[in-house]
Amino acid sequence: MSELAIHTEKLTKQFGNVLVVNEVDLKIPKGHIYGFLGPNGSGKSTMIRMLCGVLEPTSGKGTVLGYDVKAEPERIKQKIGYMSQKFSLYEELTVKENLEFYSGIYGLKGQESKDRQNELIELAGLVGREEQCSGSLSGGWKQRLALCCALLHRPELLILDEPTAGVDPVSRRIFWDIITQLAKEGVTVLVTTHYMDEAELCNEIGFIFFGNILIKGQPEELIKAHHVQNLDDLFINLVEQQDHNPLKGGSLTYV
Ligand SMILES: Nc1ncnc2c1ncn2[C@@H]1O[C@H](COP(=O)(O)OP(=O)(O)O)[C@@H](O)[C@H]1O
Ligand SMILES: [Mg+2]
Repeated sequence: MSELAIHTEKLTKQFGNVLVVNEVDLKIPKGHIYGFLGPNGSGKSTMIRMLCGVLEPTSGKGTVLGYDVKAEPERIKQKIGYMSQKFSLYEELTVKENLEFYSGIYGLKGQESKDRQNELIELAGLVGREEQCSGSLSGGWKQRLALCCALLHRPELLILDEPTAGVDPVSRRIFWDIITQLAKEGVTVLVTTHYMDEAELCNEIGFIFFGNILIKGQPEELIKAHHVQNLDDLFINLVEQQDHNPLKGGSLTYV
């Protein structure tokens, strides 16, 4: 069994003649938190959709938890936990009803389902809010409930697409405490974010710019090696070196 939770070689996606993900190589060891960073429109969600088994790659190959992304997408979907950029909670349902609903989707039953739901309510600090309508929860609570829904079936791999976008700093910190805890228990996490404080909590990060990984490595090592103060400065320097970049008013589409 591979010790890599995610392994891709030259994974590529083209929509028509637009190259959106260009020969991306990823090696993510089990139990790591991998941060996928890059400006809007860089191909992060497209890469994630290929890894989740919902979008077929144009070329290249990849395995997720040992399953082939082209040949075994259904196995991948069952095994992973996924929180999409616009996560789908049923706002008119209560916290408990949302958990009950997703529990059914994952095939959990009876006492096992009840125990798992209670465990997650506790993990996410949602105790006392079980009967609250999820539409009336604040952004941070909603997002923690969505995380619980993605965790019901005890996935070994969690894929989170901008889970903390637009969420206040305290809620972001609580969310990351949960992620860090899960990783300590052996769960692998692939997460996209625009927040550099979050990027610094990752074991490894990859910076993707319009389909190409420009740089990857451990956050602290990258900062040291490039003699910059922080990751923001590093990425801005990298973007400035690109021919087509928004800082120069250049074209954003690769054809
Ligand atoms: N189904 C699709 N058909 C055509 N173009 C798409 C499709 N999905 C995404 N794109 C394009 O791919 C590029 C990358 O998008 P995306 O992967 O969502 O980037 P990110 O998540 O980094 O913001 C964008 O230019 C987007 O418009
Ligand atoms: Mg996206």
